[in-house]
Amino acid sequence: MKRLNLYLPIRLQLRFVVPLILVMTITALFSIPLIDSLTMRWVLRDLGMRASLVTTTLSDSIDEALRSKDPQSLQPLFQRAIRDEKLMAIALCGADGSVLQKTPEFPPELRCADANAASRLDSSITLQGRAMHVATRSVEEENTRGIHLVLLHDLGFQEQRSRDTRNYLLSVLAVLGAVISATTVLIANLSWRSWVSGVKSLLRGEEGSLAPQPSSPEFSQVADELRRRLRQLEDEHRRAHTTGQEWDAARLKSMLKSDLRDEQLIVASNREPSVHVRRAGKIVTMRPASGLVTAVEPILRACSGTWIAHGSGDADRDTVDSRDHILLPEHQPAYTLRRLWIDRIDEAGYYYGFANGGLWPLCHIAHVRPTFREADWECYRRVNEKFAAAVIAEARIKDPLILIQDYHLALAPRMIREKLPDATIISFWHIPWPNPESFGICPWREELLDGMLGSTIIGFHTRFHCKNFMETVDRYLETRIEQEHSTISFRGQPTLIESYPISIHWPSERERAAWPTIAKCRRDVRQRLGLDAQHLIALGLDRFDYTKGITERMQALRSLLEQQPQLVGRLSLVQIAAPTREELDEYQAFRVEIEQLAAQINARFARDGYRAIYLFTEHKGAEEVQELYRAADICLVTSIHDGMNLVCKEFIAARDDEDGVLILSQFAGASRELSEALHVNPYHIEETAQAMLRALNMPIAERRERMQSLRSTVREYNVYRWAGAMLGDAARLRLKDRVQARVRAYGSVDA
Ligand code: F6P
Repeated sequence: MKRLNLYLPIRLQLRFVVPLILVMTITALFSIPLIDSLTMRWVLRDLGMRASLVTTTLSDSIDEALRSKDPQSLQPLFQRAIRDEKLMAIALCGADGSVLQKTPEFPPELRCADANAASRLDSSITLQGRAMHVATRSVEEENTRGIHLVLLHDLGFQEQRSRDTRNYLLSVLAVLGAVISATTVLIANLSWRSWVSGVKSLLRGEEGSLAPQPSSPEFSQVADELRRRLRQLEDEHRRAHTTGQEWDAARLKSMLKSDLRDEQLIVASNREPSVHVRRAGKIVTMRPASGLVTAVEPILRACSGTWIAHGSGDADRDTVDSRDHILLPEHQPAYTLRRLWIDRIDEAGYYYGFANGGLWPLCHIAHVRPTFREADWECYRRVNEKFAAAVIAEARIKDPLILIQDYHLALAPRMIREKLPDATIISFWHIPWPNPESFGICPWREELLDGMLGSTIIGFHTRFHCKNFMETVDRYLETRIEQEHSTISFRGQPTLIESYPISIHWPSERERAAWPTIAKCRRDVRQRLGLDAQHLIALGLDRFDYTKGITERMQALRSLLEQQPQLVGRLSLVQIAAPTREELDEYQAFRVEIEQLAAQINARFARDGYRAIYLFTEHKGAEEVQELYRAADICLVTSIHDGMNLVCKEFIAARDDEDGVLILSQFAGASRELSEALHVNPYHIEETAQAMLRALNMPIAERRERMQSLRSTVREYNVYRWAGAMLGDAARLRLKDRVQARVRAYGSVDA
């Protein structure tokens, strides 16, 4: 619906009409005295001529009256003459300056000599408080030498005439001003409307909508400029996503500088990038097993900014300053971590309850029933408020760039938007988004969707998750969805729904140079496990989570060993399972199930000290993980459902020997990018077993070829490209917002 914004007319009136009124006022101020003096001159000339005419008319009678020495006889004549409304009085002066005859109205104080002097000046004089014109005329007859008539004209009529002229002039100027103002405002309004709609079409991406208008060259100049800038951004965006163009930390940093003018960056996530814990009386730093941390941390290193996260380590409070800040990485500070404290009750309800007991199983097809409790929802809402308040407190400008991470913080975008309406909020959902029916199970589905739609951009790993999200919103909220532009407009604000496949930091030459050789890694890992140098290792490395397909992986190994007994004693699965969410029953039960399964399989194939499965339920540091990746023959990523999965990408990055085979679940987001992996349906145990066999028998040339291709994909589609794509979209939307705000400030806009 169109609404008329009165701002433009008011601005235009101020801009065009005020100067116009000023010009007209100045014109009136100068022209009125000019006209007054001009008309006065005409009037005086006119009165002079009238005086001469009256004198000529009366000359004969005066001559006769003087000759008969009866000036009194002139009185009736004089009386008749002053019936004229302008002629007020007449006097006849003798040669000696005496008054021979006068009408009664002639001022007694006016002597003949004074009248002569005034007449010579030919201007108005004031007598008895009235403006008058004095004219003296000689009576040119035989007996009237030295005799003259004094005629007094009232100038009151001239003052009235001058007043009338002034009023008339002012009225004409006022009407003229009003007509010019109204026409100006109307024309400006019409031109502005068409220009505004042109700008808006351009911003919507309708090329050619701002074709230069010959009638408004100044507008077309601005439009050209705008079009050029938008194209520049489009080109940069396209270039950024064209293969062959490398993305790295430096490029991301420079993009932030140029396109986002180095504006403040704030990240909020539940998980923190560094956890401080007490071990044997000492404080040690741990990097959590988290894909989110793997991806986001390099971005903060490159771009600086503030990362707000839950301080979950038992020594976290001892390592922050009075504002709960700590600079990270500790050896080379690049960004600030602001720790947020969440008490036990809230953590139980928000993290374990609503996020991981409800949303996690809701979004993953893992056949674990989600649990939703009112009390958990309250905690979830409260903690989201806490995060939102922290983001707002950290904001130094009115429109910072805010990156909200994951399903723990679905409500925060709306809460932040209410306080920082100009902020650019990017929410990234690191896990899958289910179909509308599944999501509909959640009793607070509308609230969650509303919260998320406070974002400027909502990112998912795949187009498929975007589609599910848009369908879910369509099912449960009254919104305007534009499929073509992938936007949802809700509460008058648009949100872009886009896929951004997350990735990892691609190690630099310098970093790679510091790695131990593949041979050393193979040897050391096998030695530690008591295995001989030729022993084949299949590696599984996950959080101890029921979505990761650890059960299916072990079953596949069992199936393989059953079908290929020659591998018994030669092949082992090394499974690292980092403890996670252990307070939840499902996770405890899952751990027991896996430990039992591993024990069963080990018992089934036990001979001469052989173990089919080495299960380590522990958190491994980055170096150890790297060593394992480099020592393995196969990496198994068999998630039964996964947003992306970064373990597979880390494995690829670690294999600079271009060897090793990746077996990847078709239900992990990464399978869409990593087509040279051996894809499996983890539910199909025999298929996975066959894939393992194929990997073990794969010729070195094929392994190389596949690994080379996988490496070039991950190198190219690294985490800087992920962030670059999101921030690039954010920059374009910010530019559009700014232009639109300017347009809105000047003109009428769509509601
Ligand atoms: O996969 C979703 C996710 O939030 C990841 O981003 C992260 O790697 C993982 O879960 C970690 O879970 P948590 O923070 O609960 O340990």
